[in-house]
Amino acid sequence: MHIHKYEKIWLLFGIISLLAFTVTIGVSAFYMGNQPPSCLVTVDPTKLDTTAPFDQPGLKQVGEKDYELVIVASAFNYDVGPEKVIQVPVGSKINFIGTTKDVIHGFEVAGTNANMMLEPGYINTVETTFNKPGKYTIVCNEYCGLGHHLMFATVEVVE
Ligand code: CUA
Repeated sequence: MHIHKYEKIWLLFGIISLLAFTVTIGVSAFYMGNQPPSCLVTVDPTKLDTTAPFDQPGLKQVGEKDYELVIVASAFNYDVGPEKVIQVPVGSKINFIGTTKDVIHGFEVAGTNANMMLEPGYINTVETTFNKPGKYTIVCNEYCGLGHHLMFATVEVVE
């Protein structure tokens, strides 16, 4: 079979482009610890009040400078325990464990790499270490209704 020279060139160009796109998408999807929006751990969103650990949202110390923060998001609030301000010493690692009672909410700790989506029925986690003292605001970055901009909590990192 005879293939014309230009046809060969374009065929090769096509194959190379396809490979380049595939690699770009495959790499960028996971770049810097990004996760695809698919969570595997499920929970019944109507039974959060009686399901551990979401029946007791809040901060738990699990090691030296090692914490877990259980978050229940709802329109338009983050339940992070009795206090709206979470305090940890500088250098602490917090594993954020979250879910939502109602609609999809965002969860971003401004100024850090902690950023995830909270979807009803699913548990999502993200971990970050706070090496600089200061106040870090937790914000909802997923439009969830009229009170979207009222959703916040604070992580205060102290010396
Ligand atoms: Cu919750 Cu926007």
